Amino acid sequence: MKKAKATALPSPLEARAEMAKLAEDIAYHDRLYHQQDAPKISDAAYDALRLRYRLLEEAFPQLAPAGSPEKRVGAAPARGFKKVRHLQPMLSLDNAFSDEDIADFLARIRRFLKLAEDAPLPFVAEPKIDGVSASLHYRDGALVLGATRGDGEEGEDITANLKTLACIPKKLKGHVPGFVEIRGEIYMTQDDFFALNRRQEEEGKPLFANPRNGAAGSLRQLDPSITAARPLRFFAYALGEAPESLAETQQELRGLLKSWGFTLNEPSRLCHDEKDMRDFHAEMEERRADQSFDMDGVVFKLNDLALQRRLGFVSRSPRWAIAHKFSAIKAETTLKNIIIQVGRTGALTPVAELEPVNVGGVMVARASLHNEDEIARKGVRVGDRVIVQRAGDVIPQITGVKDDAAHARRAKFVFPDTCPECGSLAIREEGGAIRRCTGGLICPAQAVERLIHFVSRPAFDIEGLGDKTIREFWQEKIIRTPADIFRLKRRNAGLCLEKREGWGEKSAQNLFDAIDARRTISLDRFIYALGIRQVGEATAKLLAKNYGSWQRFAKDMQAAGDKDGSARAQLVNIGNIGASTADDIAGFFAEKHNRQITGDLLEEMTVEDWKEPAAASSPLSGKTIVFTGTLARMSRNEAKARAESLGASVAGSVSSKTDFVVAGEDAGGKAKKAAGLGVKILSEEEWLKLAGS
Ligand code: IVH
Repeated sequence: MKKAKATALPSPLEARAEMAKLAEDIAYHDRLYHQQDAPKISDAAYDALRLRYRLLEEAFPQLAPAGSPEKRVGAAPARGFKKVRHLQPMLSLDNAFSDEDIADFLARIRRFLKLAEDAPLPFVAEPKIDGVSASLHYRDGALVLGATRGDGEEGEDITANLKTLACIPKKLKGHVPGFVEIRGEIYMTQDDFFALNRRQEEEGKPLFANPRNGAAGSLRQLDPSITAARPLRFFAYALGEAPESLAETQQELRGLLKSWGFTLNEPSRLCHDEKDMRDFHAEMEERRADQSFDMDGVVFKLNDLALQRRLGFVSRSPRWAIAHKFSAIKAETTLKNIIIQVGRTGALTPVAELEPVNVGGVMVARASLHNEDEIARKGVRVGDRVIVQRAGDVIPQITGVKDDAAHARRAKFVFPDTCPECGSLAIREEGGAIRRCTGGLICPAQAVERLIHFVSRPAFDIEGLGDKTIREFWQEKIIRTPADIFRLKRRNAGLCLEKREGWGEKSAQNLFDAIDARRTISLDRFIYALGIRQVGEATAKLLAKNYGSWQRFAKDMQAAGDKDGSARAQLVNIGNIGASTADDIAGFFAEKHNRQITGDLLEEMTVEDWKEPAAASSPLSGKTIVFTGTLARMSRNEAKARAESLGASVAGSVSSKTDFVVAGEDAGGKAKKAAGLGVKILSEEEWLKLAGS
């Protein structure tokens, strides 16, 4: 925030009254904004209040009320940060929980790269610290931008806040490229965290649940002087957008980062084989309690950067790195009740309500019980003493029951066979463990969860429609279907959103604007937003890419209702869409009310045809490729990943829609069929050339 400018000052008596009133108003608007997702005033008006308050407090520091907004922290304002699109997505890491998982990880890499089982594969190991990731841009060695991870694609510009961290160099030392992006983790040591909470407590302010929350809360301050006062640290762990030629190995890269002035996460070790990796993990787990920071596992990164590039990414994580988590932290408590939650797809999930208990620094009051078989298998009964376990950011689990004398006298839990929300029959699919409500959209829980999914970030991404608001609007019949969202503005003469508790002219207008901004949406987001079972972001993209337009997709999916027809065969042939996902997609389109819902929606908005992203210049973009036979130079998986990264789709069988068939050694029927259909057949050499390998 800007520094307060001096203007005419009130008398101390007037100032005291005005400051108290301003403090109260600011706290009120903070609550509306942060806890109710429903601001009543514009950001500018809010900033003006803060600025006026600051001016007064600077002039009359002795008059600051107990709840001075200048000192208040915790749910401090996150408004006003500019959004930044990341140059490359900020991804996450796949997790391993056992030595076997690590062995599988290594085997996967070897298969992908077509390496022998005993080929050496050195990895750099380092601690995984639980904090908040950040991206830093350096131009000619100077820090020009710092951003949060956000949803991985788009974060928030927190440059001013990050500049206050002593461990973030403002200027890089030594020889640096014209532009380089550094990624790393912001964290707080345990001692600093406890000291911060002690201060919070003394000042009557809310406490942070753990060091990670402390770090996140401290970064989300609009006023960098607050961030500056927080004990935040940073370690660098990777490059983002940067010249490829900087280093050849991960170890060299660490050296480079250090020479530029960054702190690295220590200790790190080069592991030559699986045993080295096991040892490092075991040693670190033993030393976990002595560390000054929250370490939740170790990260292994393939040392050879050229191999890292070949391996690339799968959905949201790199194939060349993995986090081997430490075992979970446990605690014992009493199971007070078992409630049933109904999800978006109708799944009935039992949730344990617990006597709140501290599990490794986090208070836990609920835990997942997964499904009815799990309850039976664990034999948990309401009133039992149970073991709760938490691993990293995973939802807490109940892992066991303490055998006590009273257990046998407690009633067994009877899983309902009707939906607790709508009373419809809840049935288990054959061979499945999940019981589902059959009510579809007449079930309020499913309807609400679908709407929440519909407006969520990877779907329509409508700011201002939080879970709470959706629930409330559903209850009051303001929004019952996706199309209702787009009708809000037109109906507002009758609804008068601005008159509602927690709303105002500005917030209502903001919501209408946010909705209007989504009246055109990409095909993949639209498909994802429908909430079809098993259709996640990746599958939605794949479908969008393969069908190109909504008209074609909807028509073909309805046709795919015929299990023996060609539309179904084509659907199952796409990437990794199997028979069961195809059933769910076709099932969705077979339901009349789903067609009604999408039809209504399309009267309100437009779905854009699929556009090939950036790599459109590649000769493979938009093409369909089939691989057959054995390739000598790369595994089938690498070939597939490579083709997809160049914008092609890979199919399992040859048809007239196939553009190329890549025939390796011993190619059989598929190559013959291709020849018959006049589809171009490529040798492995030709494929490698085309793929630029
Ligand atoms: S490397 C492509 N190294 O853990 C992702 N990440 O669970 C490269 N993290 O998003 C990440 N310590 O924020 C890496 N030594 C470390 C890390 C680390 C903590 C965080 C990071 C990442 C998350 C994934």
